Amino acid sequence: MRLNKTIGILGGGQLAKMLAIAAANLGFNINIYCPDRDCPAAQVASKVIFGNYDDSDNLVAFAKNVDILTYEFENIDTKALEELDQQVEIRPSIKALKISQDRYTEKSYLNSLGIKTTQFYKIDSVADIEKLLNRLKKPILIKTRRLGYDGKGQVLIKNQDDINKYFLGKSLAPSIAEEVISFDRELSIIIVRDKKGNIKAFEPGENVHEHGILLTTTLPTSTSEVLKNNATIIAKKIVNDLGYIGVMGVEFFLKEQGLYVNEIAPRVHNSGHWTMDGSYSSQFQQHIRAIMDLPLLSTERHSDVIMYNLIGTVTSNLVNNELAKVYIYGKKDVLPGRKMGHVNLIKKKGS
Ligand SMILES: Nc1ncnc2c1ncn2[C@@H]1O[C@H](COP(=O)(O)OP(=O)(O)O)[C@@H](O)[C@H]1O
Ligand SMILES: [Mg+2]
Repeated sequence: MRLNKTIGILGGGQLAKMLAIAAANLGFNINIYCPDRDCPAAQVASKVIFGNYDDSDNLVAFAKNVDILTYEFENIDTKALEELDQQVEIRPSIKALKISQDRYTEKSYLNSLGIKTTQFYKIDSVADIEKLLNRLKKPILIKTRRLGYDGKGQVLIKNQDDINKYFLGKSLAPSIAEEVISFDRELSIIIVRDKKGNIKAFEPGENVHEHGILLTTTLPTSTSEVLKNNATIIAKKIVNDLGYIGVMGVEFFLKEQGLYVNEIAPRVHNSGHWTMDGSYSSQFQQHIRAIMDLPLLSTERHSDVIMYNLIGTVTSNLVNNELAKVYIYGKKDVLPGRKMGHVNLIKKKGS
């Protein structure tokens, strides 16, 4: 193992913080690039450079001092990244980032691999929404193609009144419309691939969202082995096709025994936080190992686990439960809908 290498992370939120801790435990130096001086990752990083994500000069200066560059979120301007790509290896690749940062490109890509998604339509104007609603005569979800997360940038349109309320007289960002799917449940898979093509997948977890924000992830799910296997096969197909290096989160809708991919995230994922305490390895350790060419670890689950997000609060009864593993991100301001931390409640597998 070669120590003292430096990993650069674009983004300084909780995912970067947990990646930085996993990397530090392997003896790597961590440099963080983010615009916010109070970012969670600053609490644990060796070095933090403050700058905006479209500031090419600053980014280039940052990348000069790192051996490998990775990122904790997908909404980074790819023009700036392309410049960096000439200079330092970016893992996962810019290709994966480009696909997943635009919902239209992402779903088209998945369909091109023969993977099912919900029915979606390109929306470039309010007139497009009106035409589609008149044609389908059922509710549609309008989602901005870029920059959405935790349900932000999404509105449900049921009738013309909704269109007037949300869009009339406003400029519309390039968007997609999605048919609303009444799924039986949501699942996700955390998968990791290394440069040689070795792949490990964690067991699929079951997710519950409220207003587009993840509330809980539960393992095990009562989903059949066949479906769990199929979900893993789909996730493998994606990472293999991309020649992917690192951890990816793949979100699924399950309906009448059919699997639809909702979205892919080219990074560690909130629905994979259970791995920190329920599995022999965490998604953060796996990501660092994959991008630094270290052997991948076992993804076997050793405990039953429910991951609870602490949303808009850090004072939950859960944090005092004696079986709770508590992670508080250290964000300065508590805001409604903001992820402030999470708790893994674990018990012996099958007990
Ligand atoms: N077409 C849909 N039909 C029903 N529910 C949906 C649909 N799209 C999204 N949702 C719900 O909203 C959540 C967030 O949507 P998602 O597309 O994953 O956006 P984000 O990037 O904000 O996570 C999903 O996990 C699901 O619970
Ligand atoms: Mg999502």
